[in-house]
Amino acid sequence: MVEESFRDIPDFYDDLDKTYDNIWSLLTIGKAKSKSEMHQGYIATVNKDYPSIRTVVLRHVNKETNTISFHTDIRSNKVNELKDNDMISMLFYDHGKKIQIKVSGVAEINHKNDKAQEAWANTRSFSKKCYIVEVAPGTHSDTPVSGYLPEHEKDLPSEDILNKGYDNFALVEIKIESMEWLYLHRHGHRRALFKLNNEKLTKEWLTP
Ligand SMILES: Cc1cc2nc3c(=O)[nH]c(=O)nc-3n(C[C@H](O)[C@H](O)[C@H](O)COP(=O)(O)O)c2cc1C
Repeated sequence: MVEESFRDIPDFYDDLDKTYDNIWSLLTIGKAKSKSEMHQGYIATVNKDYPSIRTVVLRHVNKETNTISFHTDIRSNKVNELKDNDMISMLFYDHGKKIQIKVSGVAEINHKNDKAQEAWANTRSFSKKCYIVEVAPGTHSDTPVSGYLPEHEKDLPSEDILNKGYDNFALVEIKIESMEWLYLHRHGHRRALFKLNNEKLTKEWLTP
C-alpha cells in the first residue's frame, strides 16, 4: 500500500527532464490563460541606484526559440534601463502549485519592426489603449492623472486613435540563458537549474 503522505509526489519530483518540460508547460498555460498565476511575472532590470522590478503580463512563450516576451511602452523606465544594460530576469510564482520559476537572459527591444508589428496586430483594443498616454509613463504630474486626453478617459477610442499608440509600443523578447526552478514540498523541496549555452542545454539539481 502506498503511504498516504507520498500520494501527492508529482512525477517531476526526481526527474530533471520532466521538470524542464513542466516549466515550459506552466509558462505556456500562463501566457494563454489570464486567470493563471503565471499570466504575469515580475521583471527585474539593472538600475544605477536600486534593483528595479515591476509586474508585466507574459505575452509570448516559445520553447523552440527559447524566448518569452512582454509588451511595454518604449518611453518607459524599464526600456531605458534595458538600453543601458540588456540583462533581465523575470520571476513567476504559482501559489497553488508551489512552483517558482526565475528566467534570466538578454532583452531584445522590438520597436516598429516586423515582430512589433505582428504583436501589435494581435493586441486587443483594450490593451492598445495603454499606449496612447500623452507623455512617457512615469512623468511627474502636479495633479492625479490617467495620462489620457479627457475625451479618451471613459470610453475606448476609435481604432484610428488606438493605432497611434503603435509608435509607443514595444515587444521585449527575453532570449533565455538560464531558468531556475524551485518546488516547495513538505517532504523536501526541489531546486533545479537549466542553462543554455550556445544552444546547448544543461540540467542540474541545486540544493533548495
Ligand atoms: C497586473 C499588472 C500587469 C501589468 N502589466 C504590464 C505590462 O504588461 N507591461 C508594462 O509595461 N507594464 C505593466 N504593468 C505596469 C508595470 O508594473 C509598471 O508599473 C509600469 O510598466 C512602469 O514601470 P517602469 O517605470 O519600471 O518602466 C502591469 C502592472 C500590473 C499591476
